[in-house]
Amino acid sequence: MLPNPKPEIQNRIRLTAEEGAWLAGEAGPAIRRAMEIVAALAQIYGAERLTPVASVQISGVSYRNIGAAGLAFLRKWADEGASVRVPTTLNPAAMDLEAWAEQGFDPTFATQQQAVIAAFARMGVGGAGGESGPFPTCTPYLVGNVPRLGESVAWAESSAVAYANSVLGARTNREGGPGAIAAALVGRTGAYGLHLAENRRATLHVRVRAALRTISDYSALGALVGQRAGSRIPYFEGLPLERGAPLWEENLKALGAALAATGAVGVFHVAGVTPEALAGPVLAPAHETTTVADLAPGYAALTDAAARPALIWIGCPHASLAEIALVAELVRGKRLRLPLWITCARPVKAAAVAQGLAGDIAAAGGRLYADACLAIAPVRDLGFAAVMTPSAKGACYLRNLAGVSARFGTLEECIHMAVTGGE
Ligand code: F3S
Repeated sequence: MLPNPKPEIQNRIRLTAEEGAWLAGEAGPAIRRAMEIVAALAQIYGAERLTPVASVQISGVSYRNIGAAGLAFLRKWADEGASVRVPTTLNPAAMDLEAWAEQGFDPTFATQQQAVIAAFARMGVGGAGGESGPFPTCTPYLVGNVPRLGESVAWAESSAVAYANSVLGARTNREGGPGAIAAALVGRTGAYGLHLAENRRATLHVRVRAALRTISDYSALGALVGQRAGSRIPYFEGLPLERGAPLWEENLKALGAALAATGAVGVFHVAGVTPEALAGPVLAPAHETTTVADLAPGYAALTDAAARPALIWIGCPHASLAEIALVAELVRGKRLRLPLWITCARPVKAAAVAQGLAGDIAAAGGRLYADACLAIAPVRDLGFAAVMTPSAKGACYLRNLAGVSARFGTLEECIHMAVTGGE
């Protein structure tokens, strides 16, 4: 270990010789600034050391959110020659990077959004698993960025954090935007919070007595429990879920996304299903217990009943191929009266095109868009004042971030709405 050259982070953080040299500026200004951010965050959260990370997932990609100042910040780092040290993927952008004109985006906005992606690409941010990139997605684990059990990563997207921690058994806190970029440049993050085994035990025992039949039911359950849990760690008992059964990962993807959206849940455990619950007892001795017997309040709380949807949005988090197949099955041979947009990762879209699913959906009038998330898009400017979705997180964020009315229903209800137009 070297003496820490920054007096303000001398107190507790022990740095390796390499980390100390980076902090001293020996690898250039970009790496020094990244180390300053990583070390300062580690100190704030009480870490004693940094931990190497196997991958990073960056948020703060939508030009609508980061604006000109954010773009300038990224360009400065790229101009200084900053380059990521570990495989790094990007959260969604506001728009499909290729089909944005069809979506109705303004060319000026599209140019700025492309510039954000280009700045990340100059820093080496790309696809995972050998894919060329970047291809923005909130489901990096579906397209090659798949952390292993017990492995530390530094991910920023809350739904992906919940999935990585809970379903894959990897370890990550929810990184902020600049913190994740800094972690990617130095391949480190602070060893605190969910990186430590003692902080991953469940503190809220959730007894599920409601019937769960659909992916959106898991989303409704997550919305209800997220509100009750706050930052506590839920342990679910009574879910009709078997590891390896059809759609088990999609159900957990929806559950985790909703938990993280209505609460601050970074990890959850499911009896007999998730890896840490399979390995042994995960309930902390001091815990509370709650029971969920009815999902209807979860749907109702995220529905603006008076609003008539102008768009149906599926793919929050980004849809898997199995979810796209479900949609294709429901719309095959039908003619939709409302626009139906499905968002997914670019490689998933390519697979859906190759399997003919995208064609079936297009024949009914629906569209598959890669790279995009509606919650961070200028939805009103695109002409939609109310949106229906089978995702609790989607409904929550449409209201709170996009500023439009939302309706939360099952996938079947969403397709029915698309077919009937609400009449
Ligand atoms: Fe993904 Fe956007 Fe939903 S980032 S989880 S599609 S709000």
